[in-house]
Amino acid sequence: MSHYRIAVFASGEGSNFQTLVDAGKAGLLGGAKVELLVCDKPEAPVVKRAREACVPVHLFTPKSYSSREAYELEIVEQLEALNIELVVLAGYMRLLTSVMVDKYAGRLINIHPSLLPSFPGTNAILQALNYGVKLTGATVHFVDGGMDTGAIIAQQSIVIEPNATVESLAKDIHAIEQELYPRVVSWFAQGCVVINDRQVTILPFK
Ligand code: GAR
Repeated sequence: MSHYRIAVFASGEGSNFQTLVDAGKAGLLGGAKVELLVCDKPEAPVVKRAREACVPVHLFTPKSYSSREAYELEIVEQLEALNIELVVLAGYMRLLTSVMVDKYAGRLINIHPSLLPSFPGTNAILQALNYGVKLTGATVHFVDGGMDTGAIIAQQSIVIEPNATVESLAKDIHAIEQELYPRVVSWFAQGCVVINDRQVTILPFK
């Protein structure tokens, strides 16, 4: 049986990328496999991770294009050439244009390190600490044209300890992300995710 083909977009460390690659190789991703890394930062550690895992990389430097649409058109070509079924943003620090968002509507997801709609955008972990909330977590959501505004697919919460720092909380959030994201990707691979306006339902496995 052929597998479910996903592309991961990342800009930095790539711990979520690594988890998805490892889960795919171990057969723990509902039949999904990472077929491509898309990265906008040639020096990012995630690029080395991809090379070591023998995952093809589409690297680009945004500054060398005339517009965001121009580099996204090139990305779409790559995704289509590889028959990518789901696009998974994992620490990809760029807003997408309608080129990507329209083309992959319903097949484009992101993970964000807060319980959305609280603390969208950058520095979500610092925002939560500064605000003084007692609970935070991670959210997987569909990507629409806004900043972390798409329909929510799954969330996982954690308690913020009284002595938490940005570093300690980031570590705790990474740990829950690495459980949550493979689970959500496997739901997609098994055709269990249904979206109706903002309501996302997870059907029982077939
Ligand atoms: C993750 O915590 C992810 O939620 C966050 O970047 C980190 C990437 O870590 N994404 C955002 O903040 C998006 N707004 P990683 O590179 O080790 O996977």
